[in-house]
Amino acid sequence: MGFHTFPLERAGALDDPSRYRFCSREELLELLDPAPVDHALDIGSGTGFFAAEVAPFVGTLSCLDLQPGMHRAYRRKGTPANVHLVTGVVSALPFHDDVFDRAFSVDTHHEYYSPAAMEELARTIRPGGGLVTVDWSADGTGDDGPPLAERYGPGEIVAQLELAGFDVVERRERPETVAIDARR
Ligand SMILES: C[S@@+](CC[C@H](N)C(=O)[O-])C[C@H]1O[C@@H](n2cnc3c(N)ncnc32)[C@H](O)[C@@H]1O
Repeated sequence: MGFHTFPLERAGALDDPSRYRFCSREELLELLDPAPVDHALDIGSGTGFFAAEVAPFVGTLSCLDLQPGMHRAYRRKGTPANVHLVTGVVSALPFHDDVFDRAFSVDTHHEYYSPAAMEELARTIRPGGGLVTVDWSADGTGDDGPPLAERYGPGEIVAQLELAGFDVVERRERPETVAIDARR
């Protein structure tokens, strides 16, 4: 099951540009392959740090977060017209079946993971659609990010995705993080 939720009191840390050390806009967009994307989902969007980078490249971007305060922080920064802020949890997504061409999460999978959450992602991402997961790795050093005990290893994340019916097409392991591209 997922681990502790990133606290609202630390929301400011999510806007620290040094985070691009671990995942850049360019890598995220390359993984998302957004050229034909009509509707995308940012899973656990927080203050919109990565949503703001992806929004210009997709038709509509739905940003899901369980903490309304995170959405308020994004709104204060200014949300583009094609961004929809939705309060809810991944394990009970407030969306119809097959609505997303792409979904992505950055540094969040370890917080939301549960079999029910993965089933909901499989339900709402259309057949052939993509799910990009970038997260802290249990194989990392633990020098940055959450404690190692609160992370999943690359193999565990792959197994979680496959159990929900996703096909993993690429797995990138790095010193502290992992990036996984999966298709429904
Ligand atoms: C570490 S922050 C990362 C935010 C954003 N993805 C980023 O990289 O800047 C994790 C976010 O996921 C949200 N979150 C955690 N579990 C969630 C769940 N089950 N459903 C929806 N949002 C969740 C938290 O509220 C928090 O805003």
